[in-house]
Amino acid sequence: MVQPLGAGETGATGPGVSPVMLDAEAFNRFELDAWEAAAGSYGFLRELTARANGSLLAAAGVARGLQVLDVGSGPGDLAAAAAGLGADTVGIDAAPSMVRRAALANPSIPFRLGSFEAIPAGEGAFDAVLGGFVFNHVGSPEVALAEARRVLRPGGRLALATWDAPSRNRVLGLFVDAVSAVGAPPPPGIPAGPTHFRSDEELRALFTAAGFASVGLSRIMFEARVPDLDTLWDGVLGSAVRIPPTITRQPPAIRGAIRAAFDVLAAVYRRADGYAIPVSMQVIQGRRP
Ligand SMILES: C[S@@+](CC[C@H](N)C(=O)[O-])C[C@H]1O[C@@H](n2cnc3c(N)ncnc32)[C@H](O)[C@@H]1O
Repeated sequence: MVQPLGAGETGATGPGVSPVMLDAEAFNRFELDAWEAAAGSYGFLRELTARANGSLLAAAGVARGLQVLDVGSGPGDLAAAAAGLGADTVGIDAAPSMVRRAALANPSIPFRLGSFEAIPAGEGAFDAVLGGFVFNHVGSPEVALAEARRVLRPGGRLALATWDAPSRNRVLGLFVDAVSAVGAPPPPGIPAGPTHFRSDEELRALFTAAGFASVGLSRIMFEARVPDLDTLWDGVLGSAVRIPPTITRQPPAIRGAIRAAFDVLAAVYRRADGYAIPVSMQVIQGRRP
């Protein structure tokens, strides 16, 4: 069963939400297959996630000559931005097709296959570890944070960006709320995973428990402009992996009802020249003592 994305903003363990059995391995397998399939179509969200890159570089103190790791590097934009500042940068991603895509686009940067939960690097290898929108895709977030801490030198910094609560980040929230509005049961075959969205307090607590100091959190908010709702619908269904199957694996009548609910919810963002959809992201950082 998929985690109830629409049930509360901070995930499956919040008040009033029944706990679900997590199988981190099954969840990671599902994620990997989905990213492998989505590598070619990861475009719409890529344009939005790129807006966090400057904040991530600043939060982790990336500068010329530093050793930097970009985890979950996807098409490689963040690694390329770090390398552009003169940092000695490496990217890792769990999906082979994403690694190939990043390497093709950025031939001077090494991109390797690797998991956030088993980083292929030695202790203290990096001055900075960056992760753009990957933390919400790992089966064991605590293991991922321990790995990031291990590969950082003392004083090195970790900075992660992630999607904010659906109520603020409407670009995903519209989908979550439309599924909820229809009351569509989760389709079979999607393993439960850790929460997709975390409150500021949950993120801070995870960083602190993993042994990071000077933990800080900021928010990036802007509007995504789309000419019509098909652009948003097709864009998110083509470049996300956790929300799409909760819609695309539904019978046609339910899929249609979800799309109708989505259109109604999105109407409030209509402007003269299209739609202005609120986007909100959290950037969290911490230092290895
Ligand atoms: C939403 S995309 C983000 C890509 C890029 N960082 C960005 O900001 O646009 C998530 C990426 O994380 C990768 N990924 C998912 N789970 C991972 C894991 N456990 N370890 C490493 N990479 C993972 C996916 O293959 C995908 O390329």
